[in-house]
Amino acid sequence: MEFKNKLYYGDNLEILRKKIKDNSIDLCYIDPPFNSKRTYNQIYLNKGEEDKAQAQAFIDTWEWDDKANEGLKQITENYNGVFTVQSIDLILGLSKVLGKGSLLAYLVSMTLRIAEIQRVLKPTGSFYLHCDPTASHYLKLILDAIFCPKGGDFRNELIWHYRRYTGVSRDFQTMHDIIFRYSKTNDFIFNTLFQPYQETNLKNHPWEHDEDGKKFYWKKGKNITPYKVYFNEDGTKMNDVWIIPQISPIGNERQGYPTQKPEKLLEQIIKASSNEGNIILDAYCGCGTSIAVAEKLKRRWVGIDITYQSISVILRRLEDSFGKDVLNKIHLDGIPKDIESARALANKKDDRLRKEFEKWAVLTYTNNRAIINEKKGADKGIDGTAFILDDRLKDKDVYKKILFSVKSGEQIKSGDIRDLEGAMRREDAVMGIFLTLESPTKPMVAESKSAGSYAYNLTGTKYPVVNIVTIEEVLNGARLNIPTSHSIEVLKRAPAVKGKQFEF
Ligand SMILES: C[S@@+](CC[C@H](N)C(=O)[O-])C[C@H]1O[C@@H](n2cnc3c(N)ncnc32)[C@H](O)[C@@H]1O
Repeated sequence: MEFKNKLYYGDNLEILRKKIKDNSIDLCYIDPPFNSKRTYNQIYLNKGEEDKAQAQAFIDTWEWDDKANEGLKQITENYNGVFTVQSIDLILGLSKVLGKGSLLAYLVSMTLRIAEIQRVLKPTGSFYLHCDPTASHYLKLILDAIFCPKGGDFRNELIWHYRRYTGVSRDFQTMHDIIFRYSKTNDFIFNTLFQPYQETNLKNHPWEHDEDGKKFYWKKGKNITPYKVYFNEDGTKMNDVWIIPQISPIGNERQGYPTQKPEKLLEQIIKASSNEGNIILDAYCGCGTSIAVAEKLKRRWVGIDITYQSISVILRRLEDSFGKDVLNKIHLDGIPKDIESARALANKKDDRLRKEFEKWAVLTYTNNRAIINEKKGADKGIDGTAFILDDRLKDKDVYKKILFSVKSGEQIKSGDIRDLEGAMRREDAVMGIFLTLESPTKPMVAESKSAGSYAYNLTGTKYPVVNIVTIEEVLNGARLNIPTSHSIEVLKRAPAVKGKQFEF
């Protein structure tokens, strides 16, 4: 059967374990979240106030909780047989040194996943792990302990160097990320990449021509017999320091995803360690940089992400770049298809999945063209906003807001519709959509009808000002039917959505 590209919505550990076969992936790249921007030394953590504050930044993301305990147990019991003795000993050793805190919780979570990734790689496969100096040295130990005893090897520590504004600080500015490259065996796919000769390189070596006109210079040095180095049209062999600018805040590539990586970076990784038709896995795929590049370079791919925004942005990104057809060629997994699975998503207790149901409902209903409001409390029940082009004036386009409120199971009442109307007045929105898992009551329907209709300026078509849409209807294909083609532009125009970006 022909392989279909796959996009999984869910926790990568579960998906790796249940859905991805041994020896099936040519190249895996991961860029796991690591929210703390502060570096601190966990081993010699002293208890001053400043250190506590720094530690807190880390704890905000990773906590030692039941999940961490269960993860530690699975490693020590060699769950699924994927752990090496060395990795088990390493984690036990680290737990003595670090104690059961946030850093160990992070390392346990990474060990569980790296061991599964090692399992799913083909013998010729490669693994790239993207991280930063906060935990890179700990992660290297884990990678060595999992890959090397099973015949794999550490191949490179790639430095991605970029410029950024880092503010006033009493440290050297950090302007690099680290990407570890491992191979599953010593027989791995590798295509040499080239980079342009550097100015200094060209200046230091006067080029000469030999009899058949080829350009070369003499390589000379202490204790070496001079030899000819021929000029290569492709440039010089690429080294392990990659100078690539960060995503520009106003560039076309930008998807509004703060942790988005540049396509150029992924292009180099994918070109070096795979060939056309190979299968690329990104188990933390975010806004889908690796997927978009894999698609462009004619690779097949598997993406996993735990948040619906990611799935939504990827679908939109692929549609924008490759046309609607590309969506039919993707196998989507883990996304509610019926009322039971929608209800199951709404009832998930996992803290990391907070508001996932709301995100899924809003983004699906708008064909992935809305902005999710992460902070429900502050915005009084508003889960999302979409923008429509309402008018084209001589000097500017005028956009109007549509607000979304999602209810997932709790008792709903006409007061909820009035709350939405209140928010619409406050936000100067022209329409409000109430998405609900339960059927609306008669007074709710009456309340929404009494809000009247909104005439869309550009076509004169009338739409209800307040519309109640059930999840059942969304599952049956109901979508926001007001022209939204221009709203993509609004979404990409960063300032319009400032402060409402996706947060991880
Ligand atoms: C740093 S971002 C990746 C950015 C990506 N490289 C890009 O260029 O867009 C990390 C992603 O991992 C996802 N994530 C975090 N924990 C996860 C898990 N357990 N399973 C799957 N995805 C997860 C987050 O939702 C987030 O989208």
